[in-house]
Amino acid sequence: MKKIVMFGICGNMGVSISKELIKEEGIELVGGFDIKNAGKDIGEFLTGEKTGYRIYDCRNDIKKLNPDIIIDFTNADVAYESINWAIDNNIDIIVGTTGFSRDELSAIERKSLKAKSKTFIVPNFSIGAVIMIKISKLISKYFDNCEIIEMHHDKKKDAPSGTSLYSVEEISQCKKFNESRLEEGENEIIEGSRGGFKDGIHIHSVRLPGLMAHQNIIFGARGQTLSIRHDSLDRSAFYPGVILAIKNIDKIQNYTFGLDKLIDI
Ligand SMILES: NC(=O)c1ccc[n+]([C@@H]2O[C@H](COP(=O)([O-])OP(=O)(O)OC[C@H]3O[C@@H](n4cnc5c(N)ncnc54)[C@H](O)[C@@H]3O)[C@@H](O)[C@H]2O)c1
Repeated sequence: MKKIVMFGICGNMGVSISKELIKEEGIELVGGFDIKNAGKDIGEFLTGEKTGYRIYDCRNDIKKLNPDIIIDFTNADVAYESINWAIDNNIDIIVGTTGFSRDELSAIERKSLKAKSKTFIVPNFSIGAVIMIKISKLISKYFDNCEIIEMHHDKKKDAPSGTSLYSVEEISQCKKFNESRLEEGENEIIEGSRGGFKDGIHIHSVRLPGLMAHQNIIFGARGQTLSIRHDSLDRSAFYPGVILAIKNIDKIQNYTFGLDKLIDI
C-alpha cells in the first residue's frame, strides 16, 4: 500500500486526481496540503464521506503522516519549496506543477542526485502528449521549420506551458531550427506577434475560457506542412499517467523528468 499526500488538494487538479486516487487499489490518500480548508477531513471535502484524514497547511504536520509519496499540483513557487522540503525529509515526490525556471530545475536536479528519495517531474501526465512529443522528434528531421501553438484555460498562471517547453527541449535535441526569433527583414508590427522563442522554435500561447489543455506542433517545409495536435478534453486525461508514476516510482532514477521515461514507445 502506497501512502500518498496530495499538495494543492483544493485546486482543480488536486480535487480531480484525489477523487480518482481514493478509488485506486494499492493507494491510500492519507492527507492533503493546501492553504485552503486546513483542518477539514479530505473525504468530506472531496466526496462528502469522512475518511479520518485531514488537510494541513503546514508541511511539518505532513511529516507525521509518514507518507511514501507526495504529489504536487500547486504553483511553481510553492512546489519548489515543497520539492526541497521533500528531499530534506527523504520523501519521494511526483510533481505535476509547471512553470519552473531553467535555474530552478537545475538546482532541483543537483539536489536530487545526492538525495535518498526520488523526485519525478512530469509536465504532462497525458499519454497522448508523450506520444505527440516522441512523434515530433521523428518529424523534425524531415522539415525546415517548427512552431507550437499551445492553448489552455484562462486560469493557467504560467506561459508558455510546461508541455510546450518540454516539447521544444526534446525536438531541438534532434534538429536546430531558427537561429533568431525574427528573420532578417521581418517586421513585428505588434510586439510579440511572432510569439515566444526558445531553442529555434516559436511558441504561441492562447488562454481562453472553454479550453482545457491543447497543443498543436506545426512543421513546415517547401509546399507542405505537417501538424500534430493533442487535446486534453478533461482532467481524466491525466489519471492513467499519475497512477503509472505512483506505481513505478521505485523504478526511476533519483531525478527523473517526463513521463516518457516510464513508457516504452
Ligand atoms: N502535469 C500535468 O499533466 C498537469 C496538468 C494540469 C495542470 N498542471 C499544473 O498543475 C498546477 C496546478 O494546476 P491547477 O489547475 O490545479 O491550479 P489551481 O490554482 O486550481 O490549484 C492550486 C492549489 O494550490 C494551492 N496553493 C496555493 N498556494 C499554496 C501554498 N502556499 N500552500 C499550499 N497550497 C497552496 C491553492 O490553494 C490551490 O488549491 C499548475 O502548475 C498547472 O500548470 C499540470
